[in-house]
Amino acid sequence: MMRTGREIRVRAYPAGSVSPDDFELVEVPVPRPGPGQVLVRNTWTSVDPGLRLRLRPDAPSGYFAAFPLGRAMDGIMTVGEVVESRAEGFAPGDVVWHAQGWREYAAVDAGAEQLSGLGTLTRLDLDECEPQWYLGPLGGMGLTAYAGLHVVDALRGGETVWVSAAAGAVGSLAVQIARLTGNRVVASAGTDEKVDWLRDSLGAEAFNYRVGNLGASLGGIAPDGIDVYFDSVGGTHLETALSHLRRGGRVALCGSISEYESGSAGPRNLFLAVSKDLTLRGFRGSSNLHLMGQMQRQMAGWLRAGELDYRQTVFTGLESAPHALTEMIAGRTTGKTLVSLD
Ligand SMILES: NC(=O)c1ccc[n+]([C@@H]2O[C@H](COP(=O)([O-])OP(=O)(O)OC[C@H]3O[C@@H](n4cnc5c(N)ncnc54)[C@H](OP(=O)(O)O)[C@@H]3O)[C@@H](O)[C@H]2O)c1
Repeated sequence: MMRTGREIRVRAYPAGSVSPDDFELVEVPVPRPGPGQVLVRNTWTSVDPGLRLRLRPDAPSGYFAAFPLGRAMDGIMTVGEVVESRAEGFAPGDVVWHAQGWREYAAVDAGAEQLSGLGTLTRLDLDECEPQWYLGPLGGMGLTAYAGLHVVDALRGGETVWVSAAAGAVGSLAVQIARLTGNRVVASAGTDEKVDWLRDSLGAEAFNYRVGNLGASLGGIAPDGIDVYFDSVGGTHLETALSHLRRGGRVALCGSISEYESGSAGPRNLFLAVSKDLTLRGFRGSSNLHLMGQMQRQMAGWLRAGELDYRQTVFTGLESAPHALTEMIAGRTTGKTLVSLD
């Protein structure tokens, strides 16, 4: 009998908020690996805000390609186990990452560049590591947090750094990297439980941005201003940061999740970048692959020493991936959002 697996496809591009109804779960034959390919049984797959930017006919210029309708979704980070190999250097039992997620089985071309190189088929070192950490602190999330702080020169310590969406996958790592490298960290998130975690376990001075006035909350913690803002939110958060940055301050523009479903919302005070000699620096984790090795060594060291607190919110079964995406965008997940396929 023919073996089958399941994959998720986009049924329709959402207008406004994404819904599980925008996707369909389809049963397909397990692919047979061709020459130079491996067959991977995926065990963990990633859920990322950036997927929302690709659920439309055209993704933003320069970004990863939009997902086509009615086909498997390419370009989503995933961890799995090789079950058959026709590629040199890979053998059954190898645990790998690649970028053909949101499906149970994938035939992956060894050596073919995926996700600008971030998702190219790679065997993972599991020495004292859980496989799914490679979708979090030891993978793209760790790289994004580390690279963002690196490109605005915030790894030298001694400064005040504000991190938004701070209890999320990238944010919670940015908070800890900034603190472990000697900075004072202010962190904001959207629930009191997240704020407690940021304050009690991650060592940040934290506030709930949904309570009271954003500028007053930030100013209450950092009355003398901030040196660096790690921006995952955009809109009014970025506007508030521009108001509170000191002269010569820097912004790592990581993402703008407040605008992914509703369109651009500012900032309206961009002239402050001129008047205060600010640097606003956009960056991509995948554009900083040269930092991957040093980031992984640093993170693995902190994880083994118990200095880095890593949380994940796990949904079970491929069918839960669309729901996981909507929950994450709504702020109902903490740490890295993952789907377990085992
Ligand atoms: N530049 C890159 O290469 C790169 C790579 C990966 C991710 N990113 C970006 O980094 C950001 C975080 O990604 P992630 O994977 O770590 O996701 P995440 O933080 O784990 O999840 C997104 C979080 O954003 C918060 N949020 C949602 N809507 C918001 C709003 N209107 N205002 C303020 N906060 C809001 C929610 O937490 P609350 O409960 O706190 O609201 C939610 O949990 C996103 O902007 C993403 O696009 C960039």
